[in-house]
Amino acid sequence: MSFLITGGKSQTGLVAARFLKDAGKNVVIASRNGLVPDGYVSVKLDWDDPSTLEAPFATGQTYQGVYLVAPLGLGVVDICKNIIAFIDVAVKHGVSRFVLLSGSMVDKAGEYGVAKVHQYLEEKKLDHFALQPTMFMDNFLLTYAKGIREKDVIETDTPNAKIPMISVKDIGRFAGEALLKDEINITEMKVLGPELVTFDQAAESLTRVLGRKITHQVVSSEKVVENYVSIPKLGWSKAFAQFVVVAGAAVNAGSEERLFGLPNTLVGKETFEQWAERFKSSFAPST
Ligand SMILES: NC(=O)c1ccc[n+]([C@@H]2O[C@H](COP(=O)([O-])OP(=O)(O)OC[C@H]3O[C@@H](n4cnc5c(N)ncnc54)[C@H](OP(=O)(O)O)[C@@H]3O)[C@@H](O)[C@H]2O)c1
Repeated sequence: MSFLITGGKSQTGLVAARFLKDAGKNVVIASRNGLVPDGYVSVKLDWDDPSTLEAPFATGQTYQGVYLVAPLGLGVVDICKNIIAFIDVAVKHGVSRFVLLSGSMVDKAGEYGVAKVHQYLEEKKLDHFALQPTMFMDNFLLTYAKGIREKDVIETDTPNAKIPMISVKDIGRFAGEALLKDEINITEMKVLGPELVTFDQAAESLTRVLGRKITHQVVSSEKVVENYVSIPKLGWSKAFAQFVVVAGAAVNAGSEERLFGLPNTLVGKETFEQWAERFKSSFAPST
C-alpha cells in the first residue's frame, strides 16, 4: 500500500512526500500535469476536473492514507465539492486515513477555504486529521521577496501583528506524521511556529542573516493590495488580494497571537531566523 499526496508539487506536500519516503513508504503524487520531482510516481488528479477523481485508483494502486491539499484561494469551480466526491471514491477504494491541510483562520462550520471538506470528514466519521496552520514563513518568498530584493523593505499594513509563523518544513513533517500515526485521538490542531514574530522582528532577523539593513515599512492597505497584484507568480486578482488584506486586519488585531501557548497545538521547531538562513539566497539584491 502507498500514500497519496494530492496538490501536485505543493510546498507542504513535497515535504510530506519526502518524510514518508525516508520512512520507507511508497509515495504517489497526484498532480494536474505530472510535473513531480524525480523519484516519485505521479497520477493525474485535478480538483477542477471531476473526470480525474478516479484516476489515482485506475492502475489498481491502493493507498492507506491521503494528504488533501487545495490551492490557496480555491478556484472558479467549487473545489470542495470535488474534493468531497474524491473522498467518497477513495473510501470506496479502501483509503482509511485522510489528512487535510486547512488553516488557522478557517472555521470548519463556515464556508471559507476547505471548511466544507473538514465538515464532511467529521460528518462521515472518517479517520482524519486537519492541520490548521497559521501564516507560513515561506510566504516571504512570494509576497515580500520582491520588496526585499529591490528595496530592502518589507511593506505591510499590519504593524501590530504578532504571528507564530510556521515553516513549510515543519507543516509537511506534521502531515507525514499524521499519516503514519497508529491512532488519531484529537482530529484537528492549530499548527504554530516556536515563537511569536512581528514584521519588525522579521526585518531584524533578515538584516542579521543577509548582512544588509532590511526595514519594515507600514503602508496603506491599498498599497499592500497593489503589491500583491503586481507579483505575477502569485496570480491574485484584486478582489482576492483585498480579501487577504481583510484577513491581515484580523491578524493585526491579534487573531494568531491568541493561539500561541494554547493547549493541543502542534508547534514546529524552526525559528524565523533559521528559516531565513536556509533561504537567504532568495533575498539577494536585484542587480
Ligand atoms: N500560505 C499560508 O500562510 C497558509 C496558511 C494557512 C493555510 N494555508 C493553506 O495551505 C494550502 C496551500 O498549501 P501549500 O503551500 O503546501 O500549497 P502550494 O505550494 O500553494 O501548492 C498548491 C498546489 O496545488 C496544486 N493545484 C493548483 N490547482 C489545482 C487543482 N485544480 N487541482 C489539483 N491541484 C491543484 C498546484 O500543484 P501543481 O501545479 O503541481 O498541479 C500547487 O502546487 C492552501 O489550501 C492554503 O489555504 C496557507
